[in-house]
Amino acid sequence: MQRTPNWSLQQLPEMDSQQFHQWQSLLEARTGVCVNDQRKVFLQTSLCARMRELQISDYQAYYEHVTDGPTGAIEWSALIDKLTVRETSFMRHRPSFDCVSRHLQSLLKTRPIDRPLQLWSVGCASGEEAYSLAIISEQSLLSQPAEQRPGYGIWATDISLKALEQGRAGQFSAGRLGGLTELERSKWLHLSDSGQYQILPALRERICFTRLNILELAQAPIRDLDIIFCQNLLIYFRRWRRRDLLNLLAKRLAPGGMLVIGLGEIVDWNNPLLERLPDERVQAYVRRDTHESLE
Ligand SMILES: C[S@@+](CC[C@H](N)C(=O)[O-])C[C@H]1O[C@@H](n2cnc3c(N)ncnc32)[C@H](O)[C@@H]1O
Repeated sequence: MQRTPNWSLQQLPEMDSQQFHQWQSLLEARTGVCVNDQRKVFLQTSLCARMRELQISDYQAYYEHVTDGPTGAIEWSALIDKLTVRETSFMRHRPSFDCVSRHLQSLLKTRPIDRPLQLWSVGCASGEEAYSLAIISEQSLLSQPAEQRPGYGIWATDISLKALEQGRAGQFSAGRLGGLTELERSKWLHLSDSGQYQILPALRERICFTRLNILELAQAPIRDLDIIFCQNLLIYFRRWRRRDLLNLLAKRLAPGGMLVIGLGEIVDWNNPLLERLPDERVQAYVRRDTHESLE
């Protein structure tokens, strides 16, 4: 592949419509993320950031590199870190987390102690959402008598390896703490000498960060969830794909489990396994207490 000398000094090349279409299609086929014409600049800037690192100035040459066998697959995984929007924060939509808290407390009333709670943050980005779920779980469990508290575990999945690495590290700047109350912050995070907030080990050890492309959900052995939390991921997908994925996620819930998506992320969607919660502040669905799976 040809490298361009002094590339960092050159202007970003303008992407023509055929090149845009080619990259748009590749991204959607591999991740589900649909970049419309208004976001062309985002696609171009993200691609250029990676091409600049590799000193490549030609979109076509880079496309061929990315789609070329095993080396292409490695490069794709680096590129995806640039192409994904990973904006997030703690307790990003507080009403949704309050809803999880109420649901967990009601589940705990009848929960056998030997059945741990299982939660899943789908499209977890750098982990703020998963850690928020951990805080909510801890608080819900504390509301129960000690002898009636089961354990709990959280899956945190994302397509971006860089995001997962940040999640595992559990270090955040003050700007990411978002909707945490002062009490939650002081109880679960420790301000380190570097000025970063570090998640306490008691929370970190509850979370399993692992790579999962949501389009490959069928291969994931994650099931019988009490809570599936999937916000600000499906918004980048076409409507038909949102429905398909939500139908698959519904099957991963345990009876009585709850699926929480972002408010307004889908309209006119029903699934016979689920019942929507009558609460306008959130978009949450509870799986009926039946063991049929509709596979
Ligand atoms: C905007 S962030 C949302 C983070 C968090 N859920 C929230 O609401 O704050 C979207 C995340 O989805 C991830 N993502 C995009 N496409 C994906 C895919 N096909 N499979 C899994 N994760 C994906 C991105 O890497 C990114 O971290």
